Amino acid sequence: MEHFSVIQSIIRAGLSGDSGAFDKQVVRLRTRLEKAGATKEAATIERLLKAATETKDIKPSRVEVSRARISGEVLTPDTNPPIDRETGASLCQVHFPTGERNVPVYEGRVFETVAGLLEEWSSADALRNVGVEPTRSLLIFGPPGSGKTLTATYIAEQLGLPLVTAKIDGLISSFLGTTARNIANLFDFANRYSCVLLLDEFDALAKVRDDPQEVGEIKRVVNSLLQNLDHRRAFGVTIAITNHDRLLDPAVWRRFETHIHIGEPGTQARTKMIERFLAPLKPEPPIFSIIAYCLEGHSGADLERICVSLKRSLALSGESHDGPGLFHALSAVLSRLPSQDHAPARILASDPEAFISLIANDLDFPLKQAEIGQATGYGQSRVSDIKKSKRHLTLMEAARA
Ligand SMILES: Nc1ncnc2c1ncn2[C@@H]1O[C@H](COP(=O)(O)OP(=O)(O)O)[C@@H](O)[C@H]1O
Ligand SMILES: [Mg+2]
Repeated sequence: MEHFSVIQSIIRAGLSGDSGAFDKQVVRLRTRLEKAGATKEAATIERLLKAATETKDIKPSRVEVSRARISGEVLTPDTNPPIDRETGASLCQVHFPTGERNVPVYEGRVFETVAGLLEEWSSADALRNVGVEPTRSLLIFGPPGSGKTLTATYIAEQLGLPLVTAKIDGLISSFLGTTARNIANLFDFANRYSCVLLLDEFDALAKVRDDPQEVGEIKRVVNSLLQNLDHRRAFGVTIAITNHDRLLDPAVWRRFETHIHIGEPGTQARTKMIERFLAPLKPEPPIFSIIAYCLEGHSGADLERICVSLKRSLALSGESHDGPGLFHALSAVLSRLPSQDHAPARILASDPEAFISLIANDLDFPLKQAEIGQATGYGQSRVSDIKKSKRHLTLMEAARA
């Protein structure tokens, strides 16, 4: 049998648990296949290798941060948060660490930044020895539902500190002059206790700035914010979040040492999130790739919502909790969603066979015909027939017309 010696080496490396040697032998097999003209198989191995390295990047952090050394009194559930004196509404909400590690799923680079930040805190002494401090201010920006608030919660949880969340909306009072006082009260509170301060929905400032009636007031608010941010550096960690990065004042940007952009999740991240959100269902993994392919362009929050709908649909339809059951449920759920921008989702919503024709003909789609057949319940030979029919082309052309 051709290539058997390489396969043998792969098995040996796999059994001995030597992942370096394992990777090397797999690369060897890919090269051999390529040279033997088996380009499709070689490409499949290439994709598997690529997928494996990308998943490694976004695996949960194992950095355990020792209780952060941030000055301040201990915040307890009995501590009263500051309130807006005119309305009596709380200026912030306090979330205490629960010990739960809801690790967000990111593209490699975002993960590195967050992990790096946590590492600074776990190595705070080493940093102080060379006269620097761990990063204390962070600005997170990106589209809605991308996991920004989740990231702030995760960081506070990892630091073992309560998270004091203030919505800028809530700070801006309808009573002139009260806003600056609200901001001062909020920062006094956050600086007094050992905590992470989260300024969520920073964009609210930009909204008010567009209102010509409020120009004077908003200038005061921005100035007061900047002063408070500068002063806070001596106390604790501050995270600000915004959906609309362009609307932020450059002076606000400069106040933050690190900026993290969380964008739309890529294929690997989508696949991982779908797997997580579909739990406790445990179908064979290939269906995750199909769902991820269909749901390109959706945020993490969207994916979570769609996965909940999938589970509901599956439970009510009485279909099996496996790939084929989920494939039908996905088609049904997509057909109920408002119009889809993404062609594969649109095609699956109206014609599952055309969708199979699409993925079977797409060279970039990672699954082989046999896997598509198994994951969807159509079987390999039916998938092969559908592939030849190219019936997705009519739908694609109809959409273009
Ligand atoms: N990157 C992600 N990883 C894991 N879950 C996510 C991610 N992005 C969004 N979610 C899910 O969507 C929910 C809402 O996300 P959230 O952090 O509030 O988004 P944002 O603050 O960016 O608008 C989260 O609680 C989580 O369940
Ligand atoms: Mg949010």
